[in-house]
Formats: sequence, C-alpha cells, structure tokens
Amino acid sequence: MENRINDSSNLDELEKARVAIFGKKGYLAQEFAKLKTIPNEQKREFAKNLNLKKEKLNQLYEQKLAILTKDALHDKMKNESIDVTLFHPKSQIGALHPITQTMNKIIDYFVSLNFSIQEATLVEDDFHNFEALNIPAYHPARDMQDTFFFNDNKLLRTHTSTVQIQVMKDRASKPPIRMISPGAVFRKDFDITHTPMFHQVEGLMVDKVGEISFANLKYILEDFLHYMFGDVKVRFRPSFFPFTEPSCEVDISCIFCNSKGCRVCSQSGWLEVLGSGMVDPNVFEKVGYKDVSGYAFGLGVERFAMLLHKVPDLRSMFEGDLRLLEQMQ
Ligand code: PHE
Repeated sequence: MENRINDSSNLDELEKARVAIFGKKGYLAQEFAKLKTIPNEQKREFAKNLNLKKEKLNQLYEQKLAILTKDALHDKMKNESIDVTLFHPKSQIGALHPITQTMNKIIDYFVSLNFSIQEATLVEDDFHNFEALNIPAYHPARDMQDTFFFNDNKLLRTHTSTVQIQVMKDRASKPPIRMISPGAVFRKDFDITHTPMFHQVEGLMVDKVGEISFANLKYILEDFLHYMFGDVKVRFRPSFFPFTEPSCEVDISCIFCNSKGCRVCSQSGWLEVLGSGMVDPNVFEKVGYKDVSGYAFGLGVERFAMLLHKVPDLRSMFEGDLRLLEQMQ
C-alpha cells in the first residue's frame, strides 16, 4: 500500500491511491472488516497494528499530497504566462471640474499682471452688499438682484462686489489696489442660464486720482477677453450699475455663429460677458477714500465656462453627470 502512495507521480494518481486505501471499500475498510472473523484474543493486537498502519499511511499520504500540490503549482506557473498586451479597460483619472478650470484660467491671467487674490465671507450684511455700493434702502436697484435674506441685515452675498468694500474699508488697504476676488454668489434664480449659486470674479484697480482712466479698463478687459476667447471682437456698451459711473457692459462677437445671428446670441451677433465701469465717487466716500480713481468689473464664471465648452444648459454643470463632465476636459 505504501508503494501505491509513493509511486503516484501526480495528483490524479494519488487520488486514486487514496480511494483504494482509505475509501469505503478500500484496503483499510477491508482489513477492519476482518475483525469480525478473527478470534477474540487476537482482536486487540490486530486492531492496534491496523490503527498504527492507518496512521502511517495517512502521514505518508499527507506528505505526498503536499509535494505533489507544490509540483502542480510550479508546473502551472511554468506553463502559463500573462499576456501583457491584452486589452484592459482604461482606468479612470480624476480631473478638475470645468468651472474650476475656467476659474483657474481667469485667475492665471490677472495674477500674471500682479493682481492679488482677495476673498471674503459668503454671508454678508446689508452695508457690504448694498449700502456701501451706492444701493440705498428702498432703491429700485435692489430689485436687480434676487437676494436670499437671513433677516433684515444678514444675507447671502449676491455679487462679489462686497469684497471691494472689505478690501478698501475693513482691511484698510491703502491705494494703489490691484485685486481680483473669485468666489460663490447667490441669487433666487433657476432656469437654463441661472442657478441659485454661481461664481463670479470681481476686479478692482484703484490709484491716485488721474492715474486710472477708462482707457486702462478698456485695454485690460479687451486683452483679457482675447486671452480667454481668442480672436473675437469686443464691444463696450453703455449700461448702469449703482456702484460705477460711467458703467458699461462688455460684449464679444458670438462664438457660436461668428456674429451671423443665432439662438444663443438672440440673433444679435453679440454675447454679453462682463459688467464694468469707473468706481462711483459715492463708493469711495463710503469707504473713506479721497483723491483716488479706479475701475471695477465683474464676470460670471459659469457663463464663461458655458461659452468655452459650448454647453447650452447651465444646470447640467452641477448635475455631476460624468459623461458630460468628461467631454469638457
Ligand atoms: N456686481 C455686478 C453684478 O453682479 C457686476 C459688476 C461688478 C459691475 C463691478 C460693475 C462693476 O452684476
């Protein structure tokens, strides 16, 4: 019986040996069956020997099993190889959200011109969001912005112009000032081009009176828009903001239809992209600045991202649908 185990040269043969020795009708079973027929006085001795034999066979079997299993694994590794050229689905790599990318691109431009980055709280008071920006209580201009109020005084800022006041008054910065302020703003608005939370970048440049003129504003915004959108036409259109005088909105030639007129530009050939103007003297007065002049501008980051990526519905930017976001990388 030992030989059957020893002579097994693979796991199959060993398994056959196991059945022949330990199986129900195997060698050991047959030997134990003899106990019934042998004389009583010999039984004890016979059973003892048989049990010893069983134990020995068992040990031998286990040893052989371990060796053959190892051999089998070794053979398997030797014969099988991994084909590294096999197709493997592309692994997912994370990326910045298109709005963050657009924000970064805008910031890069102004930082390269030595503008500092200033941030402030999202919860503001009436003074910073309205009063100091020349929008007194009960003034109809307050209706331009659908504000989320916490109470009579506390609110979610509706624009980043609040940071102008923070910087000039609260942080007591002395001119010259050259800053941008990127960040979230909030308005009660929800349709295909508006979401209740969106992002703006505010810009402010202030220096001694006479140092900063409308020409500076015009030059920098034109240059900036060419940097963002390439070879577009830029148009300054008179407008109104309470905190700037004169004020203008800035348009670029429609990048969807090349100014021919389409649905996106409402057949006008122009897309509005910025609000801007010379800082109103009333604002300087509120923050205690004298003998200075300056310009300010504000833009919506989502709008820039939509134009850059040609996305028609702003809300889709916030739905987190990877199929859409991947297209905007
Ligand atoms: N705060 C204005 C808005 O949210 C934009 C703006 C900023 C206009 C600075 C002029 C100057 O619409």
